[in-house]
Amino acid sequence: MNTYLIPQTDLQVSRIGFGCMNLGGLWDESLVSAEIQERAFSAIHTAIEHGFNFFDHADIYTFGKSELVFGTFLQQHPGLRERVVLQSKCGIRFAGQPHASAPQRYDFSYGHIIRSVEGSLSRLKTDYLDLLLLHRPDPLMEPEEVARAFEKLHTDGKVRYFGVSNHTSGQIALLKSHITQPLVVNQVQLSLAHPHLIAEGVWFNRNDGVSGHTDNTLDYCRLNKLQIQAWAPLAGGRLFDTTGQADPAAKLTAALIWEMAEHHQTTPEAIALAWLLRHPAKVLPIIGTLNPRRIRAVAAADIVELSREVWYRLFIVSQGVPLP
Ligand SMILES: NC(=O)c1ccc[n+]([C@@H]2O[C@H](COP(=O)([O-])OP(=O)(O)OC[C@H]3O[C@@H](n4cnc5c(N)ncnc54)[C@H](OP(=O)(O)O)[C@@H]3O)[C@@H](O)[C@H]2O)c1
Repeated sequence: MNTYLIPQTDLQVSRIGFGCMNLGGLWDESLVSAEIQERAFSAIHTAIEHGFNFFDHADIYTFGKSELVFGTFLQQHPGLRERVVLQSKCGIRFAGQPHASAPQRYDFSYGHIIRSVEGSLSRLKTDYLDLLLLHRPDPLMEPEEVARAFEKLHTDGKVRYFGVSNHTSGQIALLKSHITQPLVVNQVQLSLAHPHLIAEGVWFNRNDGVSGHTDNTLDYCRLNKLQIQAWAPLAGGRLFDTTGQADPAAKLTAALIWEMAEHHQTTPEAIALAWLLRHPAKVLPIIGTLNPRRIRAVAAADIVELSREVWYRLFIVSQGVPLP
């Protein structure tokens, strides 16, 4: 698979990343069964075979079990750690912890960030993370406190680079004004089923009720050299559903994806990802399937090149109305 250099780093990563959210099975305190572990190992193995070297984690995924299973895989494959790029996230806390009345919430406090990374390192059985992202913006965030935590993790050699996820341009600017290390990633939801960050600039300043809030996050990230990573790039498979409960635009989008797959002699998954890869921001999609057949179908995107006209046909149909 072709690779990207993440801007402002020495990290050379596959153009498509492998999302580890569901590797650990159920989102509860149950143990990882042999069956779940086997499914996870087979998915990781297939991904590596197809050129993926970039793996996306978070401390919370399946209550820590996703990192745990990945760490066991690493342990069983000596030398692999140096050949992969590991990213994890922190900042979301579950309800009921540390006491019963605590709601699910965000926590960018110094203590929570440090504890979270130490937990991830221990589960992943590694001494360092290549990248650490703040998972979702915390309205109670004190940028000085985040800066102090990042400084400590960087100085101790526990995290090489830092970034954010689901953050607006303003939130990133505020963090950047206090953090010494560069912010190099913003991971956001982005797909043909959820193209808002691309569409907002097109619908800007309209008087027809279509315009929404415009934040220019995508342009801000390009300008400031943050890599855009796209989570849920296949919308959990809904992008390919021409029959279900989807609204008319979604059905037409799915139909066009299938038509383009046939035309390009590839898979619908590859067309949906090629639409993201065609964007000049060098978007890195993070896929979430654990199914080896689908991992292969996704990897095919690396060799599909969409023309400007096909890119626009897909974009327009996803909008449900002609462009202004
Ligand atoms: N930063 C954030 O806030 C955030 C939020 C969510 C996710 N993420 C990251 O993004 C990664 C991907 O997210 P995602 O799982 O929502 O992405 P996705 O690739 O859009 O969806 C994958 C899910 O869809 C299912 N699926 C059904 N039909 C499919 C098809 N034809 N092709 C591919 N998948 C199909 C897969 O099930 P099978 O396994 O059965 O194929 C899997 O559960 C996660 O693993 C995580 O690393 C980040």
